[in-house]
Amino acid sequence: MYKRPRRNRRSAAIRGMVRETRLALDNLIYPLFLADGRGIREEISSLPGNFRLSTDELLRELEECRTLGLRNFILFPAVPEERKDRVATYSYAPDNFYLQAARQVKVEFPDSVLISDVAMDPYSSDGHDGLVENGEILNDPTLPILARMAVAQAEAGFDLLGPSDMMDGRVGYLRRALDEGGFSHTGIMSYTAKYASAFYGPFRAALDSATKAWDKNTKQLATATQREALIEAALDTEEGADFLMVKPALHYLDVIALLRQNAQLPIAAYHVSGECAQLIAACQNGWLDYEKAMPEALLSIHRAGADAILTYFAKDYARLRQ
Ligand code: PBG
Repeated sequence: MYKRPRRNRRSAAIRGMVRETRLALDNLIYPLFLADGRGIREEISSLPGNFRLSTDELLRELEECRTLGLRNFILFPAVPEERKDRVATYSYAPDNFYLQAARQVKVEFPDSVLISDVAMDPYSSDGHDGLVENGEILNDPTLPILARMAVAQAEAGFDLLGPSDMMDGRVGYLRRALDEGGFSHTGIMSYTAKYASAFYGPFRAALDSATKAWDKNTKQLATATQREALIEAALDTEEGADFLMVKPALHYLDVIALLRQNAQLPIAAYHVSGECAQLIAACQNGWLDYEKAMPEALLSIHRAGADAILTYFAKDYARLRQ
């Protein structure tokens, strides 16, 4: 035998030398859920270790994360039912607690990266990402609502906006609205290939945004498809996106790799709530070792080609690295 691959695995030093992928804290984005009020820190039962936080608690949490070396965050609002309506008016209301929190965060932590969620579902009485009429999600009438929301978020200081709604043409529409509003420096991390997945369950429970009457199959990609992800990637690139996102991550590693090979923009991958919850549950049962399985999951997503990983494990990963 002339060729023996095991020679390059013989010692930790050799393995270190030939190691292809390294995951840094810079690659991670930590999702946090925001609630209206003060002194709120409610654990999300289907996603242990994650909380709905009021702004004061959020600031405390960010302080801790910053000390651990994390600096990229994506925020999601848990909007009280009485503030929701058909057209998501509260999403750009001046007294919106989510926008006010972003302002405060950017004052206290100006060098952190703050990413928003652009979609109607947290604010919609229908629980959908788009405007609903007679049971149908309308594409074009949804765009101006998203644009108003996006401009309000840019004004509040978000660095990157994350349209997660999957309406056609929204990246270009938002890009134009942002530029016209004087926010040409605000970026767009587009949910390019967002699949209609069963793995968003804990997230919807966290925000109480479970769709009331319809499923999301008419806007999100079907699990069976890869080629549609390429179509979406080409459109988002043309329309001015700054990041292309694949979501979920672990069950769609092939899509991450495909976009990595076919696109020039940075790729983000959303390691979603259900994927994290699954691992947490197995570890709580003693079936998996958290300190080994969790980093393996994150490294796999990075190896597949994701530059940035949105994961509920960001903080634990940072702690482990200390
Ligand atoms: C929708 C949105 C969803 C997630 C992020 N943004 C859920 C959905 O489409 O219903 C899911 C994230 C996760 O599961 O962790 N605005």
